[in-house]
Amino acid sequence: MAGIGRMNERGVGMADEIRTIGVLTSGGDAPGMNAAIRAVVRQALAKGVKVKGIKKGYQGLLNEEIVDLERSSVSDIIQRGGTILGTARCMEFKTEEGQEKGARICMKHGIDGLVVIGGDGSYRGAQALSRKGINTIGLPGTIDLDISCTDYTIGFDTAINTAMQAIDKVRDTSSSHERCSIIEVMGRNAGYIALWCGVANGAEDILLPEKYDFNEQRIINNIINNRKKGKTHHIIINAEGIGHSTSMARRIEAATGIETRATILGYMQRGGSPTCKDRFYASIMGAYATDILCQGKTNRVVGYRNGEFQDYDIEEALAMEKHIPEYHYEVSRALSM
Ligand code: ADP
Ligand code: F6P
Repeated sequence: MAGIGRMNERGVGMADEIRTIGVLTSGGDAPGMNAAIRAVVRQALAKGVKVKGIKKGYQGLLNEEIVDLERSSVSDIIQRGGTILGTARCMEFKTEEGQEKGARICMKHGIDGLVVIGGDGSYRGAQALSRKGINTIGLPGTIDLDISCTDYTIGFDTAINTAMQAIDKVRDTSSSHERCSIIEVMGRNAGYIALWCGVANGAEDILLPEKYDFNEQRIINNIINNRKKGKTHHIIINAEGIGHSTSMARRIEAATGIETRATILGYMQRGGSPTCKDRFYASIMGAYATDILCQGKTNRVVGYRNGEFQDYDIEEALAMEKHIPEYHYEVSRALSM
């Protein structure tokens, strides 16, 4: 580890010069994570900084699954979905002992700075390491777009395009059979995937957890009225945060007499080759994270807001709130009617 020359706000020594950085992916994988890893590695090597890849998130850190990464280690990965480092959820890292052990392992392997690619939970882990003397930078990696400090998260663009194409296909068969289709998309408690696909796929109803004014009778009336007007399909985009698509389909079929099927898109939305936007933004963010680590910044996360890449203190980033833009919601309602 490089010499300890700075103190963090808790009086813990931090490396003054970054000679080796680590990179890990944590939480749910997202398309574009590989582009970010590649950018971290190549930007660091170009600066004469060594890079170590930590496999399987914080779990791999605690198990010391750490490998050297060279230029060639990240060849031929920018176009691949998932994460070459693997990812995991690790309960042990939520404990003080786990975090202490993680920091010790970083020091043992000479890791002066760490880039953590993941969501809010992963940022909390990064914050804990930073408090224990490891310089950390977080990158927003999640298909859910539910990170407050940024308008963009790595993987969202690919996920919505994958989901949009799948929904178009369901619509074809739905129209042919004159069925109603409830299509459930991912997003955990956030409705961004549902909102974007709902608009992009011209859905008749869009159900968002953030706007929970769920009224099944209104949906039923809507389906019946549309059918009277000669519409051959009825697409309902339901967010995972609302769920219960299969039982909803049964009730709607019973009430309308119209065949109704539920399709839960599931993990297909999380995999696959990243879009150009995800490859590009993830590459810029990976390089940006490396740059600010080497400038001596720590406990920061990178975001994209108002057309610019920026970085924020993790504490501040975690305290920020994010809402579905009211105007987007109004438009989605108006267009689906
Ligand atoms: P995401 O990063 O996508 O939000 P999770 O919430 O599952 O996904 O978090 C990923 C991992 O980050 C967890 O499995 C855990 O190892 C670590 N983590 C989450 N919350 C904390 C916390 N409060 N303190 C330390 N580590 C945490
Ligand atoms: O955060 C990404 C995500 O795919 C969410 O949309 C979903 O709720 C969750 O991960 C599913 O996680 P798991 O991999 O544990 O099934």
